[in-house]
Amino acid sequence: MKDIFVATGGRPLKGSIRVHGAKNAVLPLLAASILTDEAVAVDDCPFISDVDAMTCLLTRMGAQVERMGRRICVRAKDVMPAEDMKELCGAMRSSMFLLGALLARQGEVRVPLPGGCKIGDRPLDIHLDGMAKLGAEASVSAGEVHCRCSRLKGADIVMRYPSVGATENLLLCAAVAEGRTRLINCAREPEIIALARALNAMGGRVRGEGSSVITVDGVDKLHGATLVPDPDRIVAGTLILAVALLGGDVTVFGASKRDLDSLLPYVCSPDMRASADGAGVRVVCDGGRMRAFEACTAPYPLLATDMQPQLFACALKARGVSRITETVFRNRFAHARQFEKMGAKIYLTGSTATIVGVDALRGAALKADDLRGGAGLCLAALAAEGESRIEGVEYIDRGYEGLEETLSLLGADIRRVRVDEK
Ligand code: EPU
Repeated sequence: MKDIFVATGGRPLKGSIRVHGAKNAVLPLLAASILTDEAVAVDDCPFISDVDAMTCLLTRMGAQVERMGRRICVRAKDVMPAEDMKELCGAMRSSMFLLGALLARQGEVRVPLPGGCKIGDRPLDIHLDGMAKLGAEASVSAGEVHCRCSRLKGADIVMRYPSVGATENLLLCAAVAEGRTRLINCAREPEIIALARALNAMGGRVRGEGSSVITVDGVDKLHGATLVPDPDRIVAGTLILAVALLGGDVTVFGASKRDLDSLLPYVCSPDMRASADGAGVRVVCDGGRMRAFEACTAPYPLLATDMQPQLFACALKARGVSRITETVFRNRFAHARQFEKMGAKIYLTGSTATIVGVDALRGAALKADDLRGGAGLCLAALAAEGESRIEGVEYIDRGYEGLEETLSLLGADIRRVRVDEK
């Protein structure tokens, strides 16, 4: 048996919704929890499968993990990479954080290569180069990453690309390395700020987060703390784009002005009004066709690659010809082939998609191949005439807590159905 979504388009969205804690912040915070043997609590953890997989990995490594609603408490008195981690690591990219956390905690780590969504090559060279600069011997062979070091020593690390995961892994290592580390050309995403804030709450000394140079003065020991992630900006952005595409009047609590400003320039329709205050963002829109747009993904603070498939869905019915260029991941257009089944007109050339907006989309049998692509398919299905069936729900569940429930609470016709596996 497997879950699929069944969606019928044509309804505007109405109501208000609160966004859960950010997946991409919660996962590194959970990894950071094993840097100390004291108890660490991570609040506002979403009920998504990537968080379940991470807590399962921590448990298998010997940590005591307890979930109380949205709070997850971890106590990692003794941790060891476990024999049976391979399958779970293979299923999620975030298992890569265990590399930095275990190296920092134990001086040696062997973990299976991380997996994740099928969105292109996801090498670890920037992570491993950085760890080598900190004094570790790092190598990859037979599907396993091996790093060891008697004592990590602070260093200047110039990153060839501002990789989010590498910045996070190196922060985890540098927090307890001897002396000062500078991460130069590091990532600036809000999730980096969340991790730096968390390490500081645990007694770390991290400065400059949010800029492209972070300075970390290593400490001998970190202690327990309560860590709080920001609301998920990608979930918020997905809902903002859903209203821009489908029309309606929705307040997204937890969304910020920044989330709005990074998307609004692309999704202008004549009757769209949007406003933000401290509590959230309200978008009001008549659901008419929006103007075509040009967009290009890039590291923060520019357009997030994690918003690209949802923005792509908006372009399908825009008035005119839109262009979307993906610069972060090499292979993040799998959704384009699915949109074509709905009658979309798309031309792919390398990393650019040219989308000729059509008057109407029709429901189709669709298959998600990755998390954000799956969210994009849901949006397109809700903008189409007739019924769509969306497979690959397991990808969507990795990062959205009941996306179909959220959308149907706002009035969309979408539901989860259990069907026979074929
Ligand atoms: N890269 C390398 N070498 C490395 C690391 C990265 O070449 O050692 C390349 C990647 O192949 C990619 C680019 O650098 O082309 C960006 O990768 P990055 O390391 O920044 O991404 P990540 O850490 O693997 C995180 C998020 C992704 C999000 C990206 C970019 C987590 C768990 N994942 O991935 O989130 O798209 O940053 O913002 O934080 C998602 O949530 O759907 C998702 C894929």
